[in-house]
Amino acid sequence: MEMLPERSPSDVPNIAAMRSEDIADVLAIDAASFQSHRTTTDNLQEEMDRPWSHLWVARTPQGQLAAFIVLWHVADEVHVLNVATDPSFRRHGYARALMHHTIAFAKKHEVRLVLLEVRRSNGAAMALYRTLGFSAMGVRRGYYSDGEDGIEMMLTFDPKTKEIVPQPDEITIA
Ligand SMILES: CC(C)(COP(=O)(O)OP(=O)(O)OC[C@H]1O[C@@H](n2cnc3c(N)ncnc32)[C@H](O)[C@@H]1OP(=O)(O)O)[C@@H](O)C(=O)NCCC(=O)NCCS
Repeated sequence: MEMLPERSPSDVPNIAAMRSEDIADVLAIDAASFQSHRTTTDNLQEEMDRPWSHLWVARTPQGQLAAFIVLWHVADEVHVLNVATDPSFRRHGYARALMHHTIAFAKKHEVRLVLLEVRRSNGAAMALYRTLGFSAMGVRRGYYSDGEDGIEMMLTFDPKTKEIVPQPDEITIA
């Protein structure tokens, strides 16, 4: 039997803008993903109503909501506020597909930087961001409500070519 090539969500991204009907599924992923989960239906609805806010969901080929991302596009920067994948769909490329979608959006809108903060202990997320070309640029001491530091990560674009410019880390992460 002929083997078919393996397909990942990044090959066939099933990504769409979040709708009100998606809120319950997104809240469930949020609750399963973050210890300090406090997001509510109202928070998400308010976020969807902000003109500078973009919320996208990624679905499995069967239509299940697997992952979501929230970002702000302000002036020539994109700030990724949140990205999470349902624990049962992790390591299938859904967060990477959402991040690729974000980078494509940033290029289309001639954005200069994509920024985000990540917990110092969150090796999985940092590994994901590094595969995409993000560098660690600073520390926000006690950024999270439990006092953990936030690591600032950044992706930079060449203003002329619009291509990603790899930057060296400016901090050492212990
Ligand atoms: C971080 C998170 C979003 C990754 O989602 P995901 O859909 O499983 O990620 P992907 O499958 O797209 O992974 C892409 C790459 O990221 C890296 N990566 C993802 N999870 C990893 C892990 N647990 N350990 C090491 N590297 C990891 C790998 O390089 C991976 O590529 P590979 O699978 O080919 O090796 C997910 O673990 C999650 O929801 N965590 C809880 C919420 C969270 O921490 N969000 C980030 C807030 S800043």
